[in-house]
Amino acid sequence: MTDHELPELPYDYDALEPAISEQVVTWHHDTHHQGYVNGLNGAEEELAENRENGDFESTPAAMENVTHNGSGHYLHTLFWENMSPDGGGEPEGELADRIEEDFGSYEAWKGEFEAAASAAGGWALLVYDPVAKQLRNLKVDRHDLHALWGAHPILACDVWEHSYYYDYGPDRGEFIDGFFDVVDWNKAADEYEKCLDHFE
Ligand SMILES: [Fe+2]
Repeated sequence: MTDHELPELPYDYDALEPAISEQVVTWHHDTHHQGYVNGLNGAEEELAENRENGDFESTPAAMENVTHNGSGHYLHTLFWENMSPDGGGEPEGELADRIEEDFGSYEAWKGEFEAAASAAGGWALLVYDPVAKQLRNLKVDRHDLHALWGAHPILACDVWEHSYYYDYGPDRGEFIDGFFDVVDWNKAADEYEKCLDHFE
């Protein structure tokens, strides 16, 4: 069992302004993300206690807390890393080529990703699917509904209301535009490289 910890932000709390305010980054990282880390640690403790006691009554609920809080922790970690005050622009190199190959063009990929981000009750994800050996966009509700088994997330956009409502009110589209102003394609390229090393 690992004692999961909240990762430090790779930049200052106000570094993503004006796309995302210092206040939202502070609440989002220190309160929401911390909550998922705590929830995952608590669920793991409960599962371990239940195994020790041979009493599995609360185990199914604890398992749901593992997937909810664990997915929340892992996706938020990627979300912070795949934004940067120096971000923006379009992908380059091998990832850009693969997006063109798998989606037709960057514009087609972006239109599809934005459709997922506009409709999701959780996240829009660009993932690598190691079974089909292709990139896909996913529309994820909460943190773990409509997940695809085995898929490796390489870009994550959090569209929970805690991610944008304070800054943008109900205008989620403005937030998605702001996300693309700070998106760090270098991090996405690193994650894509890992997939190539492991699966192709
Ligand atoms: Fe979030």
